[in-house]
Amino acid sequence: MRIPFIAGNWKMHKTPEESIKLAKEIDDFLKNNEDIEVDVLICPPFTSLYAVSKEIKNPKIQLGAQNMSYEEEGAFTGEISPLMLKEMNVKYVILGHSERRQLFGEKDEEINKKIKKALEHDLKPILCVGETLEERESGKEKEKVKKQITEDLKDIDKEKASSITIAYEPIWAIGTGKTASSNDANDMIKYIRSILKEIYGMDVSEKIRIQYGGSVKPHNINELMNKSDIDGALVGGASLKSKDFNEIIDF
Ligand code: 13P
Repeated sequence: MRIPFIAGNWKMHKTPEESIKLAKEIDDFLKNNEDIEVDVLICPPFTSLYAVSKEIKNPKIQLGAQNMSYEEEGAFTGEISPLMLKEMNVKYVILGHSERRQLFGEKDEEINKKIKKALEHDLKPILCVGETLEERESGKEKEKVKKQITEDLKDIDKEKASSITIAYEPIWAIGTGKTASSNDANDMIKYIRSILKEIYGMDVSEKIRIQYGGSVKPHNINELMNKSDIDGALVGGASLKSKDFNEIIDF
């Protein structure tokens, strides 16, 4: 049984003070609703991680980073190492987000190195994959996602693979208010699981959680989570308001 997994990707929003406020509102909600059986993750910007890790001690809210270097230390101006993240109680790291791929030119080879480095340090990667609108309209969405998964997970051991989460985020659905239909999202997620089965076998592929991301809101989370293969959501815009995010957690 895979436990539902709801993550908030705050992107480049919230100062440290604003982050503490938002994290506390989520913390309070979870304390008042102890029966909710969902793994909850928040991914504030790097500059807020330390402050949030000091304020929030609730084991029901895990902390994630939005990116990471594949280097551990050295002359890499502006980069953040896995060792730095670990000391701030960060347990997860989003890797290969489409915004990093599209706006900052991240390539699959680099994402693969980051995933390996994260796993080496017991950080759990959330690998984001997804097609552009053009790729979907020309029927190439599965080909694209397969290529990303095979290249990003190249030479990653079976033993470590089950701690990875995959987030299927069709690029055309991110921040646009257009969600993939729950059937299309489920269909792609089933396909992703079949690729994982080919690479790692049945056992591991059944353990890996696969989230959907792209305009997830309180009004559509329930339908998405009712689908057979969708294990959770990676939420952008709606994770910035505690009211919306708490409603999503409580789908
Ligand atoms: P939105 O929920 O704002 O569409 O963002 C999705 C996303 O990119 C999460 O990583």
